[in-house]
Amino acid sequence: MRHEYSASLDESTVSSVAPLDLLRTWINEAAGAEVADPNAMCLATIGADGAPRARMVLCKGVEEASVIFFTNMTSDKAEHLLVRPEVASTFWWPDAERSVRLVGHATALGRDEVERYFATRPRSSQVGAWVSDQSAPIADRSALEAKHLDVQARFASGEVPCPPHWGGFRIHVHEVEYWAGRPARLHDRLRLRPGASEWSMERLQP
Ligand SMILES: Cc1cc2nc3c(=O)[nH]c(=O)nc-3n(C[C@H](O)[C@H](O)[C@H](O)COP(=O)(O)O)c2cc1C
Repeated sequence: MRHEYSASLDESTVSSVAPLDLLRTWINEAAGAEVADPNAMCLATIGADGAPRARMVLCKGVEEASVIFFTNMTSDKAEHLLVRPEVASTFWWPDAERSVRLVGHATALGRDEVERYFATRPRSSQVGAWVSDQSAPIADRSALEAKHLDVQARFASGEVPCPPHWGGFRIHVHEVEYWAGRPARLHDRLRLRPGASEWSMERLQP
């Protein structure tokens, strides 16, 4: 399981005015290398019991200082975020020996943006969004498959509309850390936080 890292990262690669540009570049480079789910990120939220919960989601947009993901608005993660918007998120590209960590707060996306994105999804995913009461228990697999058949029959023809319970969040980022693996566990870590006009950068010990 031991592995020697050999990537690198220097201060000139990260912009103090557009701190997420490098995240976009790393996602694009992973996509170019045909990595599966190059935009997958682990998203941690805080539950009503005060305990963190983490799960994977797909990052569907990187903007100036925010990232976007879509989900079911009655899921556990959405219920958490509507009460406690604080999030932490981590990307990891093993082949490139790169990782990015984000800290921020989430706000729900507007209906227009959600519907616009939903319209671009494959039909099978659109149908799936109607089938799943995400995060709610179900008796067994056959009960889910029966729901799937019902929804397929309901939307046998025409467009599949965006379900009212489907939505998304924008994570407004207020801390970002870029990590690159280096030999001898002396990895590069650059952390950025917003300052008065630009983001300030610190190099952290590995
Ligand atoms: C690679 C990967 C990508 C995923 N992307 C999403 C996503 O974009 N949105 C989503 O709601 N769930 C996504 N999931 C499923 C979630 O990890 C999770 O099972 C689901 O959202 C329920 O989480 P919750 O009960 O904590 O709300 C993804 C899972 C994996 C493994």
